[in-house]
Amino acid sequence: MTSDIRITPSILNADFSHLKDEIAKISSVSDFIHLDVMDNVFVPNFTFDFESAAKIIQECPIPVDSHLMVADVDEIAVRYAEIGSASVTIHAEATRDIPTTLKRIRAHGARAALAVKPGTDIDAYGDVIEDVDMFLIMTVEPGFGGQKFMDSMMVKVRKTRKMIGSRPIWLQVDGGISLDTIDIALEAGADTFVAGSAVFRAEDPAKMVIALRERADSSKLGQ
Ligand code: DX5
Ligand code: ZN
Repeated sequence: MTSDIRITPSILNADFSHLKDEIAKISSVSDFIHLDVMDNVFVPNFTFDFESAAKIIQECPIPVDSHLMVADVDEIAVRYAEIGSASVTIHAEATRDIPTTLKRIRAHGARAALAVKPGTDIDAYGDVIEDVDMFLIMTVEPGFGGQKFMDSMMVKVRKTRKMIGSRPIWLQVDGGISLDTIDIALEAGADTFVAGSAVFRAEDPAKMVIALRERADSSKLGQ
């Protein structure tokens, strides 16, 4: 996986009762596993508590990208970094002290990422850019897989790409990414793609990851 495009399948729509097998289906073709942590407070859905998430992270054969959709995330985010999540994403709307939390995530050896919901503008976060390894622009309202990609978010993706400039910061999109939408997001400037239902509802999840990467790679070549 040498290209500068990353595919990070979300296991939200995988079979949680056979998670190891589900992860095994895609681990050799994916850059990270995207782990959606939901607390039923910040979003109206619950997935894992810290202990269960930690177990998944520690047993996962490839690096884990933890997307924390939990309220009051400052302290718990640092614990995700501590237990070995390769990347930890906090939501701007759920964090009291964004620069300090990003710095503490990094200090524990993880990549630090900042996410915004569809209704949150990115402009206010330019001042923390030096503490960020990845921005996540949500392309659906966080909470559930299988929702429709919001192409209206491409304005924000373009704006974020401009803000990043030449810094080595990744730009992730999450929600409704499929073979029909990945090139729209890529063209707007995204380079890191979460795909949940597109991958796990496919007959062959690994083949779908490969197809998504090929689609993104070929759109990139065409740019
Ligand atoms: C939604 C989650 C996403 C979700 C994406 O809140 O953050 O990661 O799993 O699922 P799809 O790709 O089905 O939109
Ligand atoms: Zn996610």
